[in-house]
Amino acid sequence: MIGIIGGSGLNRIAELVTPRRVVMATPYGEPSAALTVGSLHGVEVVFLARHGDGHTIAPHRINYRANIWALHAQGVREVIAVTTVGGIREGLDPGALVAPDQIIDYTHGRESTFFDGVAQPLQHIDFTRPFHGPMRSRLLQAGAAAGEVLRDGGVYGATQGPRLETAAEIERMARDGADVVGMTGMPEAALAREIGIDYAMLCVVVNAAAGRGSNIEGVAMAEITAVAEAAMRRVAIILGGVAQRYGR
Ligand code: HPA
Repeated sequence: MIGIIGGSGLNRIAELVTPRRVVMATPYGEPSAALTVGSLHGVEVVFLARHGDGHTIAPHRINYRANIWALHAQGVREVIAVTTVGGIREGLDPGALVAPDQIIDYTHGRESTFFDGVAQPLQHIDFTRPFHGPMRSRLLQAGAAAGEVLRDGGVYGATQGPRLETAAEIERMARDGADVVGMTGMPEAALAREIGIDYAMLCVVVNAAAGRGSNIEGVAMAEITAVAEAAMRRVAIILGGVAQRYGR
């Protein structure tokens, strides 16, 4: 089954047919919200709002382990994760869409593994290529079919938040090679790999990162919300295309 994790601006998928809510308990506590199981272009999908139904859970407070565990327990073996990001690389302006192929993790203090030696014996996973190739391909195909310019590849830098970055932090991230910056890609992607879920990410650029582009003096929060809301209609069409390509 396909799972979709929705970020800021994507708390539900209106196109889901016969949606039903499934409340899950996990060994790691409660997921961000009930799962919504429904049909998208005839394919069964499971949706989860990463920040909760009312968008109240901050990035560093999200129970990533419970979220990924619950999706897996529901039968999900592929996840498309939608995230909103700031654009670092030139040309990644608000409204741009990116399917990243790499991650740099700047987060700290998050529960970031199932293999903590308590519930599960220690195991080291390979994470050279953090995103699943065939799923990225389906995502890119769905983007093209929707007539979107969906950038193929890029480095997602995951910051701790919830504050945005300083201009110097973004400069450093640019030197590190980060193209976009968000707060929720890690540990989510790594936990998916640990539990055996194929994972790809669709990033929506909602602002120029701190100190870049029109945001030299600061980032306007109102703009972020407006861009995110407008973009999610396009995202929903792409997600429909991914569902149509499921199993191919
Ligand atoms: N920084 C970090 N996370 C974000 C941003 C940003 O500029 N925009 C959206 N999520």
